[in-house]
Amino acid sequence: MATTVDPRTPTMTTALEIVKGALCAVIGFPIGKSTIGSRISEGNKARITVKTGKAEAPTAAQMQKVVDVVNEAIAKDQACFRLTMPRKDAESTYGSAMYDVVEPPAQVEELSLLYIEGLVLHSQLHPCLPSTGPVGKVSVTKQKFRVNKQELEVMFDVEPSTDTPTDDTATPPQCVPPSAETVVLLNASEARVSADDGVEGGVEESGKAAAEGGQKVTPWEVEADGEVDYEKLVKSFGSSLITEDIVARVERVTGRKAHRFLRRGLFFSHRDLTQILDLYEAGKKFFLYTGRGPSSDALHLGHLVPFHFTKYLQEAFKVPLVVQLTDDEKFLFKPELKLEECHRLAFENAKDIIACGFDPESTFIFSDLDYIQHMYPVVLKIQKLVTYNQVRGIFGFTESHNIGCQAFPAVQAAPSFSSSFPIPLGGTPDRPCLIPCAIDQDAYFRMTRDVAPRMKLRKPALIHSRFFPGLQGPGGKMSSSTESSAIFVTDTPKKVKKKINGCFSGGQETKELQELHGANIHVDVPYQYLTFFMEDDDELKRIGEEYAAGRMLTGEVKKILIEILTKMTKDHQDARAAVTDEMVRSFMAVRPIDGSGAAAGNVVPPPPP
Ligand code: TRP
Repeated sequence: MATTVDPRTPTMTTALEIVKGALCAVIGFPIGKSTIGSRISEGNKARITVKTGKAEAPTAAQMQKVVDVVNEAIAKDQACFRLTMPRKDAESTYGSAMYDVVEPPAQVEELSLLYIEGLVLHSQLHPCLPSTGPVGKVSVTKQKFRVNKQELEVMFDVEPSTDTPTDDTATPPQCVPPSAETVVLLNASEARVSADDGVEGGVEESGKAAAEGGQKVTPWEVEADGEVDYEKLVKSFGSSLITEDIVARVERVTGRKAHRFLRRGLFFSHRDLTQILDLYEAGKKFFLYTGRGPSSDALHLGHLVPFHFTKYLQEAFKVPLVVQLTDDEKFLFKPELKLEECHRLAFENAKDIIACGFDPESTFIFSDLDYIQHMYPVVLKIQKLVTYNQVRGIFGFTESHNIGCQAFPAVQAAPSFSSSFPIPLGGTPDRPCLIPCAIDQDAYFRMTRDVAPRMKLRKPALIHSRFFPGLQGPGGKMSSSTESSAIFVTDTPKKVKKKINGCFSGGQETKELQELHGANIHVDVPYQYLTFFMEDDDELKRIGEEYAAGRMLTGEVKKILIEILTKMTKDHQDARAAVTDEMVRSFMAVRPIDGSGAAAGNVVPPPPP
């Protein structure tokens, strides 16, 4: 007579975990509180029921992708880490991300978590395999979707591997508890495994750091079918919207009116900004960090946005600023660019940045090529904590990206830590950092914030801007590679006029129609530009109302804008012409910028060669 064996083997438990992770990643629902139940039966069969929160059943392509993701995780033989930790610690770091719909009873004080990088973080009592390889092969046999409950039931078979010996009794590998950001990454991971095509898509294809509803936002590309949905971005990136309360608080703390970019929600999202304000009020001053990739001589108006805003922050908070010029990044990512050319462009771009009016006493501008030795120790410490799988997940790198690209994110992360500036910032290791940047740079800083706690360093705070729309209308950002899409800071008044007169408008075709229907000011480029550059709030409001109501014509709005932009470009050109090579060298000199050298006592020399 056959004895009944418990069908719940470590192999089957592990298989269930991987399937659950892949379902979350591909269909795009949170890992926490989404498992309704699971069951393992004889013959290596299992079933799992999850709440997808979606109105529709997953498509066949999505289900195929789930199977692919599962089998890929198995092929990689990923480690299945075990973490035992007090329940209250786990909850304070991960919320309820590790729970099923039904949580463990209240008396449970310690949790045993299973962690599989990029896929799973789950409170699991049953033993699992030490790594995914021995699971072998998973095939989905059946699925059912209950529309009214938004529940998906998936049945699958497992064929355990015969060539990888299964050592069920081996001690599971341990790891340092992953940070809270891991949960954000896991929840946003549908970005990495979007269902429409192969994973081998290169940066363009797989860098879907926020691929959702037809929009794609990565450090390399911004694409949307219509307008970029910023609230959706905030959700999928896990940042927070800047509320009116926060704007009011910034005004109170700085004792001055908020910059129009902040008042008007053009800087609209943040991470830990309120913490920066708390610390500031408690007397702990932060430093500002921003940057530019020097890929061309010509800056367009969109490039000035973060710098004008950063200048306001520097003045309002009276804090030092470091500006990174990533000549290394542009060399690595742009096949056509020569290294010497990138280095030269860094120097040229520094002039445009200086022309924005930064305080020479408290601003340090650096080219990565020149400054790397000072921050190399920090770069290395970051590199050691980030795997290829992670950068691939965050940035969409593939095997065919050069290894410089793969390693570069650590270089952009490093200036977030004050220890990268032993001389400029006097070597304090825990100076808080605030990074103003366009939202497309967020991927770098999600990674940075993920490694920070493991380096026992403070996470940088961020304040994100929307994109500056291109002349051709909504859905993209201004790009310097398309001459017609942008107004360059070097454009003559004639060119400015011509470009604005030819740009995309939300006004009606004819005067009669405009008077009848009014303009759609949400997509109207001239009006959008006014929201960026017209200082007078009342006047802007008046124009918006009149134009939308059809009492103002596109031509009149364009005329007002042309005047403002002509003055802006002229002012910039004059300011830039006044920047000498000498001045650039002094902004780029490695020197204390934190209180005119008064912190000299703190200066830590750069690490020995
Ligand atoms: N990668 C950015 C670019 O290509 C440049 C950059 C480096 C940056 N460090 C930064 C931008 C910090 C914003 C904040 O433009």
